[in-house]
Amino acid sequence: MANRKLIGILTWREGTTFKEPKYFRNLINQGKELGASVFLFSHRDVFVKQRRVRGYVPDKQGGWRSKWFRWPEVVIDRCRTRQPGYLSFRRKKHFLYANSVFSNKWNITEYLWTDKTMRKWMPRTEFYSEKALQAYIEDFPIVYVKPGNGTGGRSVLKISKIKGGFLLIGRNKNLQHKKWQVTSRDAMVQRVNLWVDQEQIRNGHFMVQQGLDLELQPDRPSDTRLLIQKDQQGKWSITGLGVRVGVLNSATSNLHNGGRATDFTIFMNNRFGEVKSKRILHECHELAYYTVQKLEEKYGRMLEFGLDIGIDTSGQIWLIEVNPKPGRDIFLGMGKAKLYTKAVRNPLAYAMWLAETQKNNS
Ligand SMILES: Nc1ncnc2c1ncn2[C@@H]1O[C@H](COP(=O)(O)OP(=O)(O)O)[C@@H](O)[C@H]1O
Ligand SMILES: [Mg+2]
Repeated sequence: MANRKLIGILTWREGTTFKEPKYFRNLINQGKELGASVFLFSHRDVFVKQRRVRGYVPDKQGGWRSKWFRWPEVVIDRCRTRQPGYLSFRRKKHFLYANSVFSNKWNITEYLWTDKTMRKWMPRTEFYSEKALQAYIEDFPIVYVKPGNGTGGRSVLKISKIKGGFLLIGRNKNLQHKKWQVTSRDAMVQRVNLWVDQEQIRNGHFMVQQGLDLELQPDRPSDTRLLIQKDQQGKWSITGLGVRVGVLNSATSNLHNGGRATDFTIFMNNRFGEVKSKRILHECHELAYYTVQKLEEKYGRMLEFGLDIGIDTSGQIWLIEVNPKPGRDIFLGMGKAKLYTKAVRNPLAYAMWLAETQKNNS
């Protein structure tokens, strides 16, 4: 087909092994339905002089086969880990990208904090140091220590003041549960210092953060995952949201850590009543639209974000994390297959729109 749009998905591969095969299959199928050709490639598959790309598409046996493709009109960056060579490749601007290179949690937090409106939704955060930890434990009943470049709830440690000391719970790099109870502040600080040393990712920094009381159900932390995406007219739109309820007595609610996905409205109505629950939803929307606009101002064109929003026991709203390459599994977990499909299609529809408008502009 002459005007079939060609969309490349930049990712990481080892041979024909991809990190998110199920999602990618879905993406390629949805692309077909929208009238686009979609293929996967890594930065090592690009032959600039020949202006062609070695791309990967599903084969009939459930694996992947490679094929030569012409230069894609748009590329969606779905590299979720900083592989060697990735950054320098992206800086070369070979393609029209639907999403800019983003930054890590620490830089994002620091940047958003400079905005007064954002600040009211943000837990206080600092670069990790023993001194900062001492100050935070003085000021807040709960303190979180987590890597500025982590994912999936790994290496996140929750420190709570309890009768006769401190309780520390978290998951290490390998997602193993860890728990300590210590009686003195010195012992707590020593333990946290050790954690930061052992859990460091590459040369990344840790942050210390005001802890939120997210136990909307007894002894289970819960937070809200909101997916906001560009639509087929290039406008930001909220695709959906859901609540993640963590396992008993854990520090995090991430689905990969055993968290369960559930309907936002039912959950919040139960906890806060309909009127307050509506107000909370409205503020989540307000927060989402404001945040993505601030982020684009700084980082350039983006495609989608998964926001981790904490709603504490008093109903106050907090931005915990912004994920520039979010998963959509929360919708499957909630049994909302249609919403999942929509969440897969949106970035493609946006990429197609982008290709079309850029063509008209050039
Ligand atoms: N300041 C905090 N207060 C309460 N819970 C938090 C805080 N920071 C993180 N969490 C919990 O830990 C989870 C993981 O933290 P997050 O910053 O999103 O890192 P990751 O990139 O590993 O998902 C959050 O979804 C939330 O459940
Ligand atoms: Mg998160």
